Amino acid sequence: MNDNAITDDALLMALGELVQREISAAQLLGHVIDVMARILKADRGTLFLLDEQREELISVAAHLPELDEIRVSLNEGVAGYVARSGSFVNVPYCEDDARFSNAIDNTTGYETRSMLAGPLHNADGRLIGVVQVLNKKEGIFDDDDQRLLARLAGQAAVLLERTTLTPPGEGDGPSALPVDGEGINQIVGRGGAMRQVIGDVKRVAPLEATILLRGESGTGKSLFARAVHHNSPRREGPLVQVDCTTFPEGLMESELFGHERGAFTGAHVRKEGKVAQAQGGTLFLDEIGDLPPGLQGKLLTLLQEHTYCPVGGTARQRADIRIVAATNRRLEELVEAGGFREDLYYRLRVVQIELPALRERGQGDLRELIDHFVARAARRHGHRRPRIRGDAMSMLTGYHWPGNVRELANCLESAVIFADDEITPSTLSLPHPEAIGKVRAMSAGQDISHPFDDYPTLEELESRYIAFLLERHDGNRSQCARIMGIGRNTLLRKIRQYELE
Ligand SMILES: Nc1ncnc2c1ncn2[C@@H]1O[C@H](COP(=O)(O)OP(=O)(O)OP(=O)(O)O)[C@@H](O)[C@H]1O
Ligand SMILES: [Mg+2]
Repeated sequence: MNDNAITDDALLMALGELVQREISAAQLLGHVIDVMARILKADRGTLFLLDEQREELISVAAHLPELDEIRVSLNEGVAGYVARSGSFVNVPYCEDDARFSNAIDNTTGYETRSMLAGPLHNADGRLIGVVQVLNKKEGIFDDDDQRLLARLAGQAAVLLERTTLTPPGEGDGPSALPVDGEGINQIVGRGGAMRQVIGDVKRVAPLEATILLRGESGTGKSLFARAVHHNSPRREGPLVQVDCTTFPEGLMESELFGHERGAFTGAHVRKEGKVAQAQGGTLFLDEIGDLPPGLQGKLLTLLQEHTYCPVGGTARQRADIRIVAATNRRLEELVEAGGFREDLYYRLRVVQIELPALRERGQGDLRELIDHFVARAARRHGHRRPRIRGDAMSMLTGYHWPGNVRELANCLESAVIFADDEITPSTLSLPHPEAIGKVRAMSAGQDISHPFDDYPTLEELESRYIAFLLERHDGNRSQCARIMGIGRNTLLRKIRQYELE
């Protein structure tokens, strides 16, 4: 039993670590059932999430090569019974138990002999799903197994809550399926712009190519840099970050490339640089635009030849690293002004990924992020998840978020701390005078009938204008494009961008 407890904890920790990594949601759930089946010495396992609207359980991960997905009604089978009763069920001999339904076995040809199943509850005690393991490899499931499953189910529920997966029926719209089809965990946003970025990241992550991530502050560059590493073949290797703004030129060189003993006054010992530390993994150069000019040539050599020389060293070293760089500065202007080497700029921009500003990401993403950060803050601070009052929501969706996702996350975290059951405009510390003006106008019952009364951003205005034209002209896109004086393809892109389809 002691041995069991140790492996059990080690595995639980392994699962916990998975959640920290930007692995795909499907992978995470797959690991959860692998671990459960392994610990409980079962042949197979299934993790169901509850779809409240349809009153069904949907398998989101299963050892089930025969079917893509199982959907069972809450009136059906042992899993349905567990969902209705909220209790654990141990069925040592399926053929003897009236709660067992052999409908799935009949479809798959797999024979379920024994079964242990239990509920998954979220932090508020609400049922979110059911886990089950099938066919104990030797003998039948016992009380120890049941206790273990209860612990694992508790852990799995926490994992599920920590990921950004939305259980069915929660969140906005019909696309709120349990598994984020985009496949990168911890990144929220299903809107067109984010989908494009996630698609690009998934395409380039497995390659060795250097990637340049660009975007305003707080748009998720660091988050995506981690996602690249964790979705690359180097994921088992180190991810080492260097902030290029931190050090003056002299120190930066030794920080990056290390130095030999006696290389300069004070260099009493040999020091390994970040490049060496990242060996076999990924080196993330944050704020690459601030890399001191004297080092830019050395970085270019590193990128082109995969070699470098420690300060005070004579022999060149080979670097087995993949480089991801990020910047929020306009590199073109830096190049123009002579602050950034043109050849390095061209080398870096071969694979560049532009992260959209939050205000360009469409209302769908914004609402999804709001939901995500409110839930996360509530969990973090042990609060019940507050409601967001309508006027506060308008304030959130009307604000232009110059600090992007980071500002949104911070704003909502403080709102959750200060709100009781409800987030109101006064719990949101949004400084923007226009947004505040808008809320004042609303709370004073003023009529916001003028098209500019709510101070829309240019993007919002554009989005509304396109929606208006499409409505006026029965969705005739060529005609709308002509009226707007833009090409049809540009219009189609904007329609996608603003999710007006
Ligand atoms: N699409 C997203 N889904 C979920 N969280 C996000 C998303 N984008 C950003 N975040 C969160 O917002 C915060 C800011 O992101 P991050 O630090 O990656 O931004 P950044 O672009 O690197 O900013 P800076 O330029 O200031 O370094 C982080 O807490 C990050 O987890
Ligand atoms: Mg960053």
